[in-house]
Amino acid sequence: MSDNSVIQAKRRLDYQPPHFFISTVDLSVKLEDPKTQVKSQLKVIRNGEHRHPLVLDGEELPLIDIKINANSVTRYEQTPTSLTLENVPDEFYLEIYTEIDPASNSSLEGLYKTENAYCTQCEAEGFRKITYFIDRPDVLSEYSVTIYADQKAYPYLLSNGNKVDSGKLEDGRHWVKWHDPFKKPCYLFALVAGDFDLLEDHFKTVSGRKILLQLFVDKGKAKRGKHALTSLKKSMQWDEEVFDLEYDLDIYMVVAVDFFNMGAMENKGLNVFNSKFVLADSESATDEDFFNIESVIAHEYFHNWTGNRVTCRDWFQLSLKEGLTVFRDQQFSADMSSRVVNRIKNVKVIREHQFAEDASAMSHPIRPDEVIEMNNFYTVTVYDKGAEVIRMLHTLLGQQGFKNGIDLYFKRHDGQAVTCDDFVSAMQDANQVDLSQFKLWYSQSGTPVVSVKERFDDATGEYILEFQQINAPTADQQQKQNLHIPIRLEFMCNGEKPSAELFELKQGSQTLTKSGFTEKPTVALLADFSAPVKLEFDYTVDALLKIALQSQDGFSRWDAGQKLFSEYLHGKTPAGSTFKVSLRDIDNLINGIFNDKQADTDWALLAEMLTLPNIETLAQQVSRYYVVELNKARKELESHIANTFSANFLLIYSESAQSGYKYTATQVNKRKIRNLCLHYLAKTDIGDKLVSEQFSASSNMTDSLGALKAAQSALLPCFERLMSEFEQKWADDPLVLDKWFALHASSEIPDILARLDLLLSHKQFNHDNPNRVRSVIGTFAFYNPTGFHAIDGSGYKYIADYLLKLDARNPQVAARIVTPLSQWKKMDEARAELMKHQLTRLLAQPNLSKDLYEKVSKSLS
Ligand code: PHE
Ligand code: ZN
Repeated sequence: MSDNSVIQAKRRLDYQPPHFFISTVDLSVKLEDPKTQVKSQLKVIRNGEHRHPLVLDGEELPLIDIKINANSVTRYEQTPTSLTLENVPDEFYLEIYTEIDPASNSSLEGLYKTENAYCTQCEAEGFRKITYFIDRPDVLSEYSVTIYADQKAYPYLLSNGNKVDSGKLEDGRHWVKWHDPFKKPCYLFALVAGDFDLLEDHFKTVSGRKILLQLFVDKGKAKRGKHALTSLKKSMQWDEEVFDLEYDLDIYMVVAVDFFNMGAMENKGLNVFNSKFVLADSESATDEDFFNIESVIAHEYFHNWTGNRVTCRDWFQLSLKEGLTVFRDQQFSADMSSRVVNRIKNVKVIREHQFAEDASAMSHPIRPDEVIEMNNFYTVTVYDKGAEVIRMLHTLLGQQGFKNGIDLYFKRHDGQAVTCDDFVSAMQDANQVDLSQFKLWYSQSGTPVVSVKERFDDATGEYILEFQQINAPTADQQQKQNLHIPIRLEFMCNGEKPSAELFELKQGSQTLTKSGFTEKPTVALLADFSAPVKLEFDYTVDALLKIALQSQDGFSRWDAGQKLFSEYLHGKTPAGSTFKVSLRDIDNLINGIFNDKQADTDWALLAEMLTLPNIETLAQQVSRYYVVELNKARKELESHIANTFSANFLLIYSESAQSGYKYTATQVNKRKIRNLCLHYLAKTDIGDKLVSEQFSASSNMTDSLGALKAAQSALLPCFERLMSEFEQKWADDPLVLDKWFALHASSEIPDILARLDLLLSHKQFNHDNPNRVRSVIGTFAFYNPTGFHAIDGSGYKYIADYLLKLDARNPQVAARIVTPLSQWKKMDEARAELMKHQLTRLLAQPNLSKDLYEKVSKSLS
C-alpha cells in the first residue's frame, strides 16, 4: 500500500547495471506459525569501482539481525521498502535474519500459506517479501536452501535444483537441503512445503539421461494428475525435436496449489501451478481444460530455456521470455492438434483482448517504457502480441532461419540476463538480414491499420493492390513510425489453383502489381493473420463468400465468414456497416458451409466457421460499442440460423454422437461440433428437451457443460434445474464449481446482482481464492454485457464496491478485474459517465494499491 502522492513510475531508459552482485545465496527457512524465520547468507561482490552503498529491497520485513563477515552491523538505514548499508567491503558475506508471517499473506506474493501448504511466488518482485535482497533479474546467484518444518504436517519440503541432504530433529520436525547448480535471478526461486499425493514418471532425454518427473497434487487427487504428466513428457520431447533443447537438471517437479494469482510459474526445476492447470479427468474437466493443461505445462517447461537459462535483464524486457515462450507453446499446441484451429484460437485472443488493451489508456508496446507496478504488465500485449511479433520473425525468416537465430541466441547468451535487442540481434546476425525497422514492433504501441485498395485493368490483365499503413496515436505515444508488416496474400481465379505470396509492407504507402490475369482475381488478405493489424478493404460480399468457401487456407475461410457475420451485425446497430450484408447472404454462407461438408471434414474448423464472433470481439471492430443493440442483433441472428438450419444441425448432432471419453483430436473435434449444434438447437422448439437429454446422458464434463451453456444462452426453462443438479453433484469440488459460478455470473437474467450476492455467500466461495473471485466477479465484469453495462450503472457500482474490498487483500487480482471498467471510452455518454464515476470513487480510496492506482489513474487521465 502506498500514499498515492509518492507513487512513481520506473522508466526503461533509466536502466543502470547493479552496483553489487550476489554470487551465492544460502537460505534457511524455518516454517512455523505465526512466525517463520528466514536466515540468508549472501556472498556480495561490488560490481566495478564505485563508492555507492549497498541497497537491498525488502517489503514488510521485520529485521532481527544483520551481520557483515560474521560481525553484527548496527549502522544501517531502513525504510518500508529498503535497507541501505554504507561503506561495505568489496567482497563479503552478508547475513540477514528476518521474520515473516505467511499465514496472513493474502496477496499470494512472497511466501504464503494456503489451506494446507506453504508456497512461494517471487515473479516479478515477490522475493523482497521473503528477505532483503537485490531483487532484480540481472542479479544471478547460486542457491542453497534448507527448509525446516513439522514432519507430519509437511512431509514434503521442496526447493529448486537437487536434494542434497535431509534429516530429522527431535521435536517432530525435519529438514531438507536443496542445491541448484544453475545461477538464477531471485524471481525463479521457489519453496513449497506440504502433504501431497505424488505422481512419478521418467523421461529419457536425447542424450540418454533419465529425468525424474514428480507431480505433487492435493491428497486424493492423484488420478487427476495423469494428463499433466503426459503433457510434460510430450513437451520435453517436442523441444528436443523442434529446437534441440534438452532438459538440464536430473529432476523436474510440478506442484499444484489452489491459491494462485496467475496460471503457473516456471521456477527452476520446481514449477508451481494453479491447480486449474494441472487437475483433469473426463468427469470433472472439459476438453478445453485438457487443452489448457497441455499448453500451460508446455509453456512453463519451455521457459527452462527461454526465460531461465537466458533470462531478462530488467522487467521492461518481459516479452523477451514471455512472447517467445507463448510462441513456442502455440507451435507445440498446433503440432499436437490442428494448426488452423489453434491459429484461430490465438487470433481470437488478440482481437478480443489485445486490441481492446491497445485501444485503452493502458496501451503499451510489447516492451513497455514506463511501469508503476510490474504486476500490471503481465498483459495480453506483452504475452500474446509479443508472440505475434516472434511469429512475424518466424514468417519472415522461415523455420530454418528462425531456428538458426535461436541457436545463435543461446550460443551467445546462455547463463545471461539480456534484452529484446539482444534477441533480435541474434536473429539478424544468424540470417544476415536488416531487422532495424522490424524492431519498431518492440517500441511502438497500438494496433496498426492496413488499408488496401484494388484496381484491375481488363485490357492489360494487370491487378494492382495499393497498401497503406496507418499508425494512429495511442494513449501512451503520440508519434508513430511505419512498421515492417508481413502480409500473406492468396489470389483466387476461377478454374485455377490459387496462388499465395508474402508481401512486405514497409512504407506508408506501397503498391503490389501482378499481371497476367484473364479476369479480376479475388484476393484474400492477411492470410494466417500474418501480422497483428486491423485490415480495411472493401471486399464485396461475393468475394467474402468465395473466400469463405473456396480459399486454400482454413484461416482465411474462417476469417471471411467472420467478416460477413460481423458486418451483418454492425449493420443492425447505429454503428452501421459499409458492406450491406443481408440475411440472404448469411444464409448463403451457411448453406455453402454445410454443402461443403465432406466425409473428411475437420469438425473443429466447421464448428469455428459456424460460430458467430463474440460480443467482445465485435466491440473492437467499431469506434462506438452499442452493447444492447449489438447483443440483441447477435441473439436474433443466432435464433435465425438455428431455426433456418435446424435440420442440418440435427443431422450433424446425431452423426457426431460417440460413446466413451478419450482426449484425442478425433473425439475432441466431434464433441466440439456436437455442442455447437446443441447451442443452436437449444434455440429451436426441441431445445429444452434435447438439452435436458444431453445433460442426463452425459458422463463427461465437456458434454455436461455444453448442455448447461446451451441452456443458459437460450434462456431455457431447464436451466435452473440442471444447474442445481450440477451444484449438488459437485458440492465438494470448488474447482469444478468455478464453472457453475461462471455460468451464473454470465447469465443475462434481470436480477443478476442478487444472484451474484448469493454466489458470494455460497459455502464454497472464498474471497481469498483468485479462481473463485475470477469465476464470479471477473466473469460478470468481462462476460456479462447486459448486466455489467446495465444503464442504471448498478453493474459498474457492484464491481467497484467489490474491488475496494479486494484491493486491500489481493491487489494483483483486483487490478486485473478493473480492466472492463477502464474501457469506458467506447461506450455511449451515459455509460461512460457512470463508469468514470466508479473509477473516480476508486481513485479517491485512501491507501489504494499501486496496482489499482496505476490502472485507474491512467484510465481517467
Ligand atoms: N511467468 C509466469 C508465466 O508466464 C507467469 C507469472 C507471472 C506467474 C507472475 C506468477 C506471477 O508462465
Ligand atoms: Zn510465461
